[in-house]
Amino acid sequence: MFVSDCLSVNEKGHLTISGCDTVELAERFGTPLYVMSEDKIRDNCRRYKSSIERHYGGNGAPIYASKAFSCKEICRIVTSEGLDLEVVSGGELFTALSAGVDAKHIHFQGNNKSVSELCYAIDSGVGDIVVDNRTELERIERLSAERNVTTRISMRIKPGIDAHTHEFIRTGQIDSKFGFALETGEAFEAVRAAVAAEHVELIGLHCHIGSQIFDKSPFVLAAEVMLEFYNRIYRELGKKLTHLNLGGGFGIKYKEADAAVPYEDYMSDVSAAIHAACARYGLEIPRIYIEPGRSIVGETGVTLYTVGDIKTIPNVRTYVAIDGGMFDNPRYALYQSDYTCLLANKADRPADFKATIAGKCCESGDLIQENTMIQTPEVGDILAVLSTGAYNYSMASNYNRNLKPACVMVRGGEARVVIQAETYADLVRNDV
Ligand code: LLP
Repeated sequence: MFVSDCLSVNEKGHLTISGCDTVELAERFGTPLYVMSEDKIRDNCRRYKSSIERHYGGNGAPIYASKAFSCKEICRIVTSEGLDLEVVSGGELFTALSAGVDAKHIHFQGNNKSVSELCYAIDSGVGDIVVDNRTELERIERLSAERNVTTRISMRIKPGIDAHTHEFIRTGQIDSKFGFALETGEAFEAVRAAVAAEHVELIGLHCHIGSQIFDKSPFVLAAEVMLEFYNRIYRELGKKLTHLNLGGGFGIKYKEADAAVPYEDYMSDVSAAIHAACARYGLEIPRIYIEPGRSIVGETGVTLYTVGDIKTIPNVRTYVAIDGGMFDNPRYALYQSDYTCLLANKADRPADFKATIAGKCCESGDLIQENTMIQTPEVGDILAVLSTGAYNYSMASNYNRNLKPACVMVRGGEARVVIQAETYADLVRNDV
């Protein structure tokens, strides 16, 4: 019935998540409220971990892309399941380190890391820094030389695969701000420079072909393209790499019609492609990383709101106004993203009412979903938006000086706050 198997309906007709009644959660913690299922997060982590064990002999690890949802508790949860962490800013790095994550298990990404962020990463001893461009390579070399340390790096490569079309395509030079291009020779020259640099140790290659992808084949092709380059580096530069990071991007269900992605199959196909390529080239099997964000946390989250007003414009539409909006979930305003909405206190009733869910920001585009079917609404109902665990809290803002909601983690019927709701005092904390 629902996009995620941690959701159900209880005897009161209320939506539940991991055994907690969402209407009670809304009463207890207030709305808007982010709710996430720790059970489901851990389950997702284990699925990735076991797929690498089963199909790749355990010679690798999933890395949680913390941009999808970053806070101290999620860092603790995913690393306790044996995942590494990807961070893309000093702030995400600080969050991970504050949570007690071992720096060796942190991978630092980003297309324009500042000098202070690079210093922070080097001084913390992160597992590797994924280098995006030549300026950055030179910066890391200089900063490492100044400190007399050797910094482990990987190179971000554009494999030239566009997975965001109906049929994915292998393009020539894709237009992307991230990483080094293969086709122009830029990537090879950058690798040559990295190999020659004295204070960096090049351990591997990285690519990431996009996000919310349902098809397995572009990932397999990316692995093949990367292995070909990996081999060229060995043959022409005599440099033996050891790591291959194939990025994230696995799709999740926002609507019932979205296909579930079998991550296990993905790993088995990619593993077969890597083994075949290594046999062909006579290479040792690299340690593999995959970097899921959305698919670890996305379907595990629900946002709860209170309906404050219902405005029917005859022959046009009905706006159902909630106490949140683009400040806690900007994804519809930004990408017209699909979501499943329902009334949590009427979850057993038919969804026979066409509504446009309106946020409370002073902006007409502040909508969560348009013309979506929900149960017949009344003021005071609790509206639940499903699959909001990824890129919601992490993309939230204080637009209109709205407060970022609390986040509650639920596990086996128990709920606990993992991020406090902001207060008005927080809003003026940095004002002078
Ligand atoms: N690795 C790298 C280098 C990435 O850039 C990303 C996502 C990931 C891993 C994780 O991808 P995932 O498994 O979550 O698809 N704000 C957008 C999504 C942006 C994704 C950016 N990069 C959204 O709300 O849909």
